[in-house]
Amino acid sequence: MFLRFILFALTLSTSLHVHSQQAAVASAHPLATDAGMEILKKGGNAFDAAIAITATLAVVEPYSSGIGGGGFWLLHVKKDDRNVMIDGRERAPLAASRNMYLDKNANVVPGASIDGPLSAGIPGVPAAIEHLALNYGKLPLSVTLEAAIKHASNGFKTDEHYQRMARFREEALNKSTDAAKIFLLNRKAPLPGTLITQPDLAETLRLLASKGARGFYQGELADKLVDSVVSHGGIWSKEDLAAYKVIERVPVSGEYRGMKVVSVAPPSSGGVALIQMLSMLSGFDFEALSDSEQTHLLAEIMRRAYRDRAEFLGDADYVKVPVNRLISQKHVDRMVSTIQLDQATPSTELSSAIVDAGKETDTTHFSVVDKDGNRVAATLSINYPFGSCFVAEGTGVLLNDEMDDFSSKPGVPNVYGLVGAEANAIEPGKRMLSSMTPTFLETEDRLAVLGTPGGSRIITMVLLATLEFHKGGSAGDMVNRGRFHHQYLPDKIFYEPDVLTETVLKSLFERGHDTEMLDSSYGNMHAIVLDKKSMQLEAASDYRGSGSARVIH
Ligand code: DON
Repeated sequence: MFLRFILFALTLSTSLHVHSQQAAVASAHPLATDAGMEILKKGGNAFDAAIAITATLAVVEPYSSGIGGGGFWLLHVKKDDRNVMIDGRERAPLAASRNMYLDKNANVVPGASIDGPLSAGIPGVPAAIEHLALNYGKLPLSVTLEAAIKHASNGFKTDEHYQRMARFREEALNKSTDAAKIFLLNRKAPLPGTLITQPDLAETLRLLASKGARGFYQGELADKLVDSVVSHGGIWSKEDLAAYKVIERVPVSGEYRGMKVVSVAPPSSGGVALIQMLSMLSGFDFEALSDSEQTHLLAEIMRRAYRDRAEFLGDADYVKVPVNRLISQKHVDRMVSTIQLDQATPSTELSSAIVDAGKETDTTHFSVVDKDGNRVAATLSINYPFGSCFVAEGTGVLLNDEMDDFSSKPGVPNVYGLVGAEANAIEPGKRMLSSMTPTFLETEDRLAVLGTPGGSRIITMVLLATLEFHKGGSAGDMVNRGRFHHQYLPDKIFYEPDVLTETVLKSLFERGHDTEMLDSSYGNMHAIVLDKKSMQLEAASDYRGSGSARVIH
């Protein structure tokens, strides 16, 4: 697996813990965290900081998220005591069709939904940035986008992670003249410490700052985007760009043993699956179980939630997603009644599709809390590392390959090994199903803001961190907790190196589980915890990544 070498270098050094009564930012890149902090210091609120962080990550973490991608921003607006989900997810182009990635024998064409402009959905990030600024922020985009413009124009230095990601996608990046020019050096992944400048992207960001979203979705830039996409085999139209709209949605919420959980609604599957899993767990005295029993039980609830994901979850504006039924006590009870504490339930007894293991990829998350108590949890993506690897000529905009999150063909796994069916089939204008799970947790004493990248494993990482928080763990405990994962198909528990003990593994084997130790750890979680009594904040960035967590005192 290509992440094999990626994450261990920083294992011992980057778990950051800081305390304050003020404001905090935790993100995947120190420059993005700094950009957010600067905005907070200038009097901006958490939403202004979120804009600055989103735009800066788009510049300095080009393999993870970007202006050419999408995401979900979960907001808590303190003055109204309101939670809202900003859905800036990409949409399928209007010319997209159900079988667009199949050959004439109805087989999925390898790579067709992953490389090049045909794999790109219509981006949502520029519209979301404007939406946040107009409806929630206090500062103009000329201020909140300043840091991103500076880093695009003056350049930022690459690190080892960049080098590995670029190496992994070298071949695809070399197929796009502008992508190769910007992100590679003499057609090769650059060594750590190389300066990457993005003058075209700086210009695009300036347009966004001066004209708002129409600077991106209309006029000269939109013309350039469409011309470049179409001349390289893509199917975007000007109508697609002009029609893109951010959607405000009501988050999904639930409860687990006195803890409130607020997370994202479809087109993410994350909130529904998280709440389902926690509700299933509520039926057990979880803390009283042994390590082996806990691991078995968690694998069983993960399996069941991911089964429902495969069948029922999709864009609720296009298909009927029975959210209330899926998280209803009746449905949860029915799922719980099939769990045996002494035996694994084969996934094939829940359904018949068989798929391969998923792969690791990239995406990003950040968490912000400001001094007034506003909060943002945002998970953003261009999907695979460097997205589609295609930069629309003269724009600096690296396009996503989020179309792969659709189910190209029922039962055929996508790049994360996830299967889907009707609910997540491709339709013009539809949003592809996501696993991104930015989440808020709240107990009587504390609250948490969290999320992580990690493809199909995002939801189970958030679950494990949620349980860590529930039992009193700090932000550091949440992000650094060892991880394991079951996603229904393949019927196997995947775990980080050495996370499951010999005793646990033996007992899982005896219960009939298949297990696989991964080559490397996964995920890159960023969490903030507020102690409501002391009003102290703690922020933490995952030791597995190279992000940073800071608090203003
Ligand atoms: O929306 C999704 O579920 C995926 N596009 C997220 C991809 C991802 O997290 C890759 N990261 N490691």
